[in-house]
Amino acid sequence: MNKDILKSIREYKKESIMAPLLVTVEVFLEVLIPARMADIIDVGILGDGGVGYVIKAGLFLIFLALLSLFFGVSAGAAAAKASAGLAKNLRHDIFYKIQEFSFKNIDKFSSSSLVTRMTTDITNVQMAFMMTIRMLVRAPIMIVMSVIMTVMINKTVALILICAIPVLGGTLMFIGKKAHPHFQKVFDEYDVLNNDVQENVNAARVVKAYVREDHEIGKFHNISKRVYDLFSKAEKIVAWNSPVMQFTIYTVILCIVMIGGKSIVYGNMEVGELTSIIVYSLQILSSLMIVSFVFVMNMISEASVDRINEVLKEVPEMTDKENAIKTVKNGDIDFENVDFSYGGEGNTLALTNINLHIKSGQTVGIFGGTGSAKSTLVQLIPRLYDVTHGSVKVGGVDVRDYELTALRDQVSMVLQKNVLFTGTIYDNIRWGDEDADDDEVKRVCELAQADSFIKDFPKGYETMIVEGGNNVSGGQKQRLCIARALLKKPKILILDDSTSAVDTKTDALIRKAFREEIPDTTKIIISQRVSSIEDADMIIVLDEGRINGMGTSEELLKTNDIYREVYESQVKGGAEDAE
Ligand SMILES: Nc1ncnc2c1ncn2[C@@H]1O[C@H](COP(=O)(O)OP(=O)(O)O)[C@@H](O)[C@H]1O
Ligand SMILES: [Mg+2]
Repeated sequence: MNKDILKSIREYKKESIMAPLLVTVEVFLEVLIPARMADIIDVGILGDGGVGYVIKAGLFLIFLALLSLFFGVSAGAAAAKASAGLAKNLRHDIFYKIQEFSFKNIDKFSSSSLVTRMTTDITNVQMAFMMTIRMLVRAPIMIVMSVIMTVMINKTVALILICAIPVLGGTLMFIGKKAHPHFQKVFDEYDVLNNDVQENVNAARVVKAYVREDHEIGKFHNISKRVYDLFSKAEKIVAWNSPVMQFTIYTVILCIVMIGGKSIVYGNMEVGELTSIIVYSLQILSSLMIVSFVFVMNMISEASVDRINEVLKEVPEMTDKENAIKTVKNGDIDFENVDFSYGGEGNTLALTNINLHIKSGQTVGIFGGTGSAKSTLVQLIPRLYDVTHGSVKVGGVDVRDYELTALRDQVSMVLQKNVLFTGTIYDNIRWGDEDADDDEVKRVCELAQADSFIKDFPKGYETMIVEGGNNVSGGQKQRLCIARALLKKPKILILDDSTSAVDTKTDALIRKAFREEIPDTTKIIISQRVSSIEDADMIIVLDEGRINGMGTSEELLKTNDIYREVYESQVKGGAEDAE
């Protein structure tokens, strides 16, 4: 088992050590039992011990068995607690780590692979750990003790066992090694399967709207068949374990009985002794079987351990500097010679040579076709990503010099793909600031033009939002998200296409409220709709990651082709009224 993973045992160290110790006691007691049985047969029944001896020895035997049972159960409980505890801590660690991730870190892992890591992979590790601390101690002790007991009874017979152990052990290991790569493939395919199921369930409405159920079923069937095939292949190899085991056991027992029988005839061995030797050999062989099983389980879990470690070892890309600045002076924004690439240095640039100066309190529109890097540009302001070259400043200070939470508290952003959480509307809004009172919640909802429709719901602010916010309309969801962002009372508010589903009249009301109620807040509005940004103090036109034009709507109409073309098609063509 991997050292890094074992660090997560923490408060379950006691149980992790107790389990193997208890198992050791259990095995010592268990090994004594066949020898006692031999005595009952040889002395009590065949010898002259009589019924009294049989009863006395029998009671002792029961006592031994009960004691061994007690230790066995305790060991099982300790191992279960330790392994479940390890799993709990690992899950906690991964979750904690994910919370530290920057957008760049998140880009690296798919969400379904993170879910698989927190479920299937951790369960594998839990199983492997439990078996290791119970079985991997039990089996070797059992083998050694049983061999010693056999040697004490009959050296020739013991020799047969000693020869059989490496042969059987070797074969079982060989089978395990053969099966391992197949199991590894199974887990990779599991990822694909989970991804597919998650995507399908998340997009259930889209699938239905496009009547693509059959296609989706077909896709699922294929993946599921691949998992089945790979599993069958792996299991087919492992299935050899049992016949190999049976064959060896019966061969060994046959030899023992033959040699033992002769010894009894010649008077070198007692009947009971032969019985106990047979029991010892069964114990040895089944221990070997267990070792090979744990071995396979450990190999399977190795793939899981690697996948868990991948998350735990991911270095959070953004951390606070020492003496990071905690207060944002104002809502000034400056971009100085900014280049940005999602892939980092040397990859294609999403933004090229951006220079911008936005004054605190200004309203700035950002305009451009899809893929022109509008979202990319604004994501640099709350430092969701770090620039590749140049610098972004907020309140005159490089964003990298701020404490991350301080910066993001002052730069509130409504993401293009926004989500609401399961819970009441009230809770969802307050998620922006948990200390806000009812009046503040109501005020931001009024600002975002959400108050009126919330009040129309029978339960008002206590209306439950279902997962993903599917029980409110697109425009209502957008307004709730804006209200949530406003609650933070930010110095900079960024709306990334956040009113696309809101009708133009309401959209205008939202902008009016912004102008009147939060005049000191810098407002950055991304929109494909000219009317949403027309009255901004400055409009930035983006094209393929470069600034194509900058100025008021009036200026741009004279100087910028991209802006003029869209303006004419939307305003003059009356496309707006049709919306
Ligand atoms: N997380 C990401 N990882 C890699 N590339 C991305 C990511 N997000 C956006 N891009 C790329 O960056 C470019 C600009 O995207 P974006 O800023 O979303 O455009 P817009 O918001 O103007 O539609 C696109 O070519 C897009 O493919
Ligand atoms: Mg966008």
